[in-house]
Amino acid sequence: MSASRAVLRDLRTHLVDLERSDWLPGWMALSQSSGRSLETLRSAVASCRRCPLGFSRTQAVFGVGSECAKVMWIGEGPGFEEDRRGEPFVGRAGQLLDNILASIGLSRRTVYITNVVKCHPMVDPGQPQRRGNDRPPTEEEIAACRPYLEEQIRRIRPQFIVLLGSVATRAVLRTDRRISELRGRWCGHPGFPEIRVLPTYHPAALLRRPELKSAVWQDMKALRKELAVEDGLA
Ligand code: SF4
Ligand code: URA
Repeated sequence: MSASRAVLRDLRTHLVDLERSDWLPGWMALSQSSGRSLETLRSAVASCRRCPLGFSRTQAVFGVGSECAKVMWIGEGPGFEEDRRGEPFVGRAGQLLDNILASIGLSRRTVYITNVVKCHPMVDPGQPQRRGNDRPPTEEEIAACRPYLEEQIRRIRPQFIVLLGSVATRAVLRTDRRISELRGRWCGHPGFPEIRVLPTYHPAALLRRPELKSAVWQDMKALRKELAVEDGLA
């Protein structure tokens, strides 16, 4: 077994049972006591070790944007650049996301952007300084981080959530259906039925497959229309 796999195995022994119900009432009390503020939650995430990713990250990537955002955007997890800078979507895919937001009059200051997991999932956690060491988060890591995402949603209470890519779509909608089937379809959030959820392709997928851009543009026009209705402009 390689050294890094041994490290990973040791870290996994720290994994607590994250479906444990005893911490949920605590979170709810926290959310009631601190109103909309996300700062207490941000500091909990900054020192979190609830899954192995907490032992190999440089820093947790909590989220960016407005606490009063009408639209929340959820990606998969931080990559190399996000891990170094502590902000979601700051690499190449992030630049494309900024352009997508701008195309419908939004920006990373007016929306809220976060990920399904807050720490960088690496193929080889022993080499955090290596580029191209990214992998999708596991089911266990997603389950471990889920209470943070749910608390962010609870505190921000967006009217709309855009799910970027298949990992976010599967995790948030708790479905096995393919992103190609679900993109562009308005869905309800299983835990927050008043929030309208729109799955679309991940910007990194658009970098690999530019032919998907027209579908995302359709989805963005649908979102812009709903936002205009909300604002009484349509
Ligand atoms: Fe904690 Fe989420 Fe980071 Fe895992 S990914 S250590 S659950 S903040
Ligand atoms: N991809 C994601 O899903 N999230 C990020 O923050 C960056 C790239």
